Amino acid sequence: MRHTKVKDLLNSTTTLPEINAKGWVRTFRNNQFIALNDGSTINNIQCVVDFENTPDETLKRITTGAAISVTGSLVESKGAGQKYEIQVNKLEILGDSDAEKFPMQPKKHSLEFLRENAHLRVRTNAFGAIMRVRSVLSFAVHSYFQQKGFVYVNTPIITGSDAEGAGEMFKVTALPFDNTPRTEDGKVNYKEDFFGKETNLTVSGQLEGETFAMALGQIYTFGPTFRAENSNTSRHLAEFWMIEPEVAFNDLNDNMDLAEDFIKYVVKYAVDHCGDDLKFLEGRLTEEEKSKPQAERSEMPLLEKLGFVMDNNFKRVSYTEAIDILRDSTPNKKKKFQYIINEWGADLQSEHERYLVEKHFKCPVILFDYPANIKAFYMRLNEDGKTVRAMDILFPGIGEIVGGSQREERFDVLVEKMKALGIEEEDLWWYLDTRRFGSAVHSGFGLGFERLVLFVTGMTNIRDVIPFPRTPMNAEF
Ligand code: 4AD
Ligand code: MG
Repeated sequence: MRHTKVKDLLNSTTTLPEINAKGWVRTFRNNQFIALNDGSTINNIQCVVDFENTPDETLKRITTGAAISVTGSLVESKGAGQKYEIQVNKLEILGDSDAEKFPMQPKKHSLEFLRENAHLRVRTNAFGAIMRVRSVLSFAVHSYFQQKGFVYVNTPIITGSDAEGAGEMFKVTALPFDNTPRTEDGKVNYKEDFFGKETNLTVSGQLEGETFAMALGQIYTFGPTFRAENSNTSRHLAEFWMIEPEVAFNDLNDNMDLAEDFIKYVVKYAVDHCGDDLKFLEGRLTEEEKSKPQAERSEMPLLEKLGFVMDNNFKRVSYTEAIDILRDSTPNKKKKFQYIINEWGADLQSEHERYLVEKHFKCPVILFDYPANIKAFYMRLNEDGKTVRAMDILFPGIGEIVGGSQREERFDVLVEKMKALGIEEEDLWWYLDTRRFGSAVHSGFGLGFERLVLFVTGMTNIRDVIPFPRTPMNAEF
């Protein structure tokens, strides 16, 4: 007999005479009640064992973590808390789990401990829920863009270019570390490397994405990106997933509209499709916040916060206005910020972003028109000659969730900018071709997928919303 998913059994509209379920034991109490979970839902199904007619050896093997198969009938539950339960006729142990050794004991574990056991943490309620929400969110991303006729593009993971010009790249090479081939002046001779040139893992698919937008009109990427920045924070990963739409003929306002609409859609999709998981995560967050000082607790429970984002307009504020607000703010005057804002041109740190979102506006904020010299080379220069058509979306508890811009479509201006920054024209000849042939206004943005998952799940550390996090000094699994 084919086994039925626990989710379908719990959602059954009738009792069923004969069913089979397979899963992992969460708990076993009174030698009689098994809480069985198979990952299809956060909810366990209760399996009632006829312990008088089950050999002792079998009962002893029903331990937390064991894989079992139960055959029996789905009956109305006499106990509180569930509508149906399984009256077990036949129980088979598929895989034992030594109760003394299984790390995921039915008790509260610290998130640090769970990270060290990332291969097993997914067997806990919280991580099961997070990973299901993550999966639903990624489907929502595709659903949004596909409905709107965007073309999904797989941009390369190994590339020769540094899209962000920040130099935070992991090298890709097949050259040996000893006897590395060198040029006459002692530099590594990449001509002898696998690709015959220097290559790295991509930091962004944007530049390649732009070439596709200038043919297909509206495109998006959704893939892994890599950054060798040594930021050991709760918001940074060395390997993260990014969604990068790029649209021909969109200006910065269209870009902001798209980003806001997109985020609202995917958040709503998760709320509509992950009810049980989000309810559980809301409870987890509320519990976690009890241990925090009042001032650091979020003002709304998780689902209310998600509803707030779906139902309210993001506040759009220019960088210049933001600097004025920050300069006059209490933490700035009282020197509570680590980086004091003195003048226009300052780069915003996460403390500033969080002040704007959490204390001042109390809603998601889109900052736009940043100073040119703190932003990437490809952004469209404004007529004032000192700001660019950049936009960042800042979220409560997260900080920057989206970074994007209208692109510099004018060949001459772009080349000038590259020269000033020491970016070689010949390295980006193909990128410049988009401006040589049929150039047009276009815009796009990048949304860090894990930061979105952080927001929706109410988790606070980015290491807890990706299956196997890669961070400085950590690449286990
Ligand atoms: O702001 P970023 O660096 O922008 C770009 O890469 C552009 N090429 C995007 C574009 O216009 N197509 O990164 C975009 C987003 C950030 O807002 C943040 O959400 C996320 O990617 N991000 C990270 N997420 C996790 N770990 C990191 N180290 C991240 N760096 C950026
Ligand atoms: Mg950014």
